[in-house]
Amino acid sequence: MKYLLDGDPGHDDMLAILLAVRHLEVVGVTTTHGNTSVDNATRNALQWVDFLGRPDIRVARGRAHPLLNSPVDSSVGNGSSGAAGAVLPEATTETYMSDAIAFLLGASHRYHSDLAIIATGPLTNIASALLADPSLGERIQEISLMGGSLAGGNSTAAAEFNIWADPEAAAVVFASGIPLRMFGLNVTERAGVTSSHIQRIREIGSDLAIVVADILQHVRIARRQVFAVDDAPLHDPLAVATFIDPGIFTLRDMRVDIELHGNHTRGMTVVDARSLTGSTDSPSLNRAVAPMRAANCQVAVDVDVDAFFDLLIDSIRTYDVHAIRAAAGAGEDHDS
Ligand code: BDR
Ligand code: CA
Repeated sequence: MKYLLDGDPGHDDMLAILLAVRHLEVVGVTTTHGNTSVDNATRNALQWVDFLGRPDIRVARGRAHPLLNSPVDSSVGNGSSGAAGAVLPEATTETYMSDAIAFLLGASHRYHSDLAIIATGPLTNIASALLADPSLGERIQEISLMGGSLAGGNSTAAAEFNIWADPEAAAVVFASGIPLRMFGLNVTERAGVTSSHIQRIREIGSDLAIVVADILQHVRIARRQVFAVDDAPLHDPLAVATFIDPGIFTLRDMRVDIELHGNHTRGMTVVDARSLTGSTDSPSLNRAVAPMRAANCQVAVDVDVDAFFDLLIDSIRTYDVHAIRAAAGAGEDHDS
């Protein structure tokens, strides 16, 4: 399998990229508005893949705006760079491409059904690509996404940020028929970074470990300025971890729809978690209990938090930048 990462780096997006580069065959990173401007996200992605020893990975700049609305101002907690706390050298290589939609469509033709997308930001790029070429869905094996929730939001009482930042795009993706895995707040908020996790990472002592520990320290402090929680959730890497160790998660097939119009619920993922016997197929019962619509998503309902952090920390401990750079150079086979 090949993996295309679509996101808004962004602290936790950077850790998602790290995990993916360490374990999976990453064919590109497409960037979007979200945690920061798309220009910041693109610069952060370029610097980060370079720092990770994979300057060959294409980074393609995606949409600056949601399909309908203005972009959300997400500078709180993310700083003017979008990744405050991460001190990285300037990127030394030019793998930049200006059109994420063309890149995504090109990758779908090139890799055909061997391609999965891991989405860790608003879904504007994927929706735009689907709107430009509806046959895209036939060429994507799966989308794993961080977004939504079984219940409750973080941007609003009802809506999680990635969905809320572009609900129309999310609606296009959830209606696309592409197999989906959803890692929502109901699992990601359980994966809180503790000071002991940060200490374990810092003690590894490598340049990478120190940068990651600094990022996580910043995330903990920034998060506590906004939410009354001790441990900052590490949302995005969960959408990657499922491909590395599926046993970390329990997934259930469910119907998920995106609320576009509610006064209080715009951007909410409406998840049908009912258990019905099927007797509601009778028309008289349907007036009281609507039948369930076909499942369109595998929803993560449980996570083994310790196994997830062990995976993340072991991945940092065993990350060998030089070996990764050499291996990538040996197998060079890039999109253009
Ligand atoms: C999501 O919003 C962003 O701030 C994070 O990067 C994550 O993708 C969590 O709601
Ligand atoms: Ca993100």
